[in-house]
Amino acid sequence: MGSNLQLNSQIENYINNNSIDLHPVQKEIIKYNEKLGEIKKMQISVSQCHFLHFIIKITNPKNILEIGTFTGLSTLTMALASNDDTLITALDKNEETSKTARSFFDKANLSKKINLLVNNAKKSLEDLVNSNKYFDMVFIDADKENYIDYFEKSIKITNNSGIIITDNVLWYGDVANEDKNDRLTVKIREFNSYIKKNNKVESLILPIGDGLSICRKL
Ligand SMILES: C[S@@+](CC[C@H](N)C(=O)[O-])C[C@H]1O[C@@H](n2cnc3c(N)ncnc32)[C@H](O)[C@@H]1O
Repeated sequence: MGSNLQLNSQIENYINNNSIDLHPVQKEIIKYNEKLGEIKKMQISVSQCHFLHFIIKITNPKNILEIGTFTGLSTLTMALASNDDTLITALDKNEETSKTARSFFDKANLSKKINLLVNNAKKSLEDLVNSNKYFDMVFIDADKENYIDYFEKSIKITNNSGIIITDNVLWYGDVANEDKNDRLTVKIREFNSYIKKNNKVESLILPIGDGLSICRKL
């Protein structure tokens, strides 16, 4: 087995400082989230912003679906990276954080690209499935209990060769530790093995941030 670099915050800062510069409004969201205390860890990491930026530049999706918006860092990252005619449908049930996210989208002058639907994601996804709307890229980052359900609904409305990216699939590394068997660790493990067995996609897991699963619809 080859040896892998053990990441620490010093190396992560080095990587981030030598990658794409963030937009001022992305920086503002991160600063805003820092004041929120514990829940700031909900936002995607800076390295995940860089990854989403690049994958969008390479794949050029026209329609993007996001499940789990919070204060808008991942949504804005995808809006900034995508073409002017790309549309992002973003789902979140929280009215307050959605209001904050919208204010950041306005500030970056990107509101016209983003349709934020404030409702339970299961309901919004059912509506999208029934409306026959299709997506080239999906980013799943909401409640972990429902990951399999979100994936199953998302795959129905993903174009062939479209990409589904899911966050937190390494769950602080706990998924690989047999001694960790709390509810959410078990849920994420179930999700990862469900994806591995799913013959509708080819997939890989990347150790970026808390772990990203990348699936390509076959
Ligand atoms: C990890 S945060 C998303 C972080 C976001 N991607 C970012 O970069 O800042 C998860 C979000 O999922 C939302 N959420 C949780 N359960 C949900 C549900 N059942 N329906 C819709 N949204 C939900 C929460 O309100 C929260 O904003």
